[in-house]
Amino acid sequence: MNIILAGMPGCGKSTVARILGKKLNFRVVDTDELIVEKYGVISEIFEKFGEECFRNFETQVVKDIASADNCVVSTGGGCLLREQNRSLFKSCGKIIFLRTKLDTLSKRLEGDATRPLLKGDMQGRLQKLMQERAPIYENSADIVVDTDLLTPEEVADKITELIL
Ligand code: S3P
Repeated sequence: MNIILAGMPGCGKSTVARILGKKLNFRVVDTDELIVEKYGVISEIFEKFGEECFRNFETQVVKDIASADNCVVSTGGGCLLREQNRSLFKSCGKIIFLRTKLDTLSKRLEGDATRPLLKGDMQGRLQKLMQERAPIYENSADIVVDTDLLTPEEVADKITELIL
């Protein structure tokens, strides 16, 4: 069984994944990192080839992950948008939605220039993405954890409690 962490950029997926990996002795896999290894820098993929191409690369990586076991997977914020990715993840693990409020996300992402979809009016863009995505995250998750008042360690503890 794999543990798939999903949620908005800044919700803590990568940090929590690392902690969970250590705790459970699971391999930690990050869809964005795999994309960078296989295809190149994310902001350049968006710039040169567009979002659709990035999403195709993302699905390739999700297919590779779906054949693995005992992994904690940190997903890119838009990874669950495609039905194909959602069903691949459902077939290989439990999906955990790390739910985080807009204000918390904006604070955590202040000054971040690595996320092409948040360029410019970050607060406005986050809000729009969140509106579109919240129902998708909620409907596909096996477990929802509210992260605003928790440290990453506490989020990881809560997930282990709920999943084991
Ligand atoms: C994206 C989030 C990013 C990355 C890409 C697209 C999104 O990952 O996959 O920039 O659509 O929200 P993080 O969630 O780690 O920021």
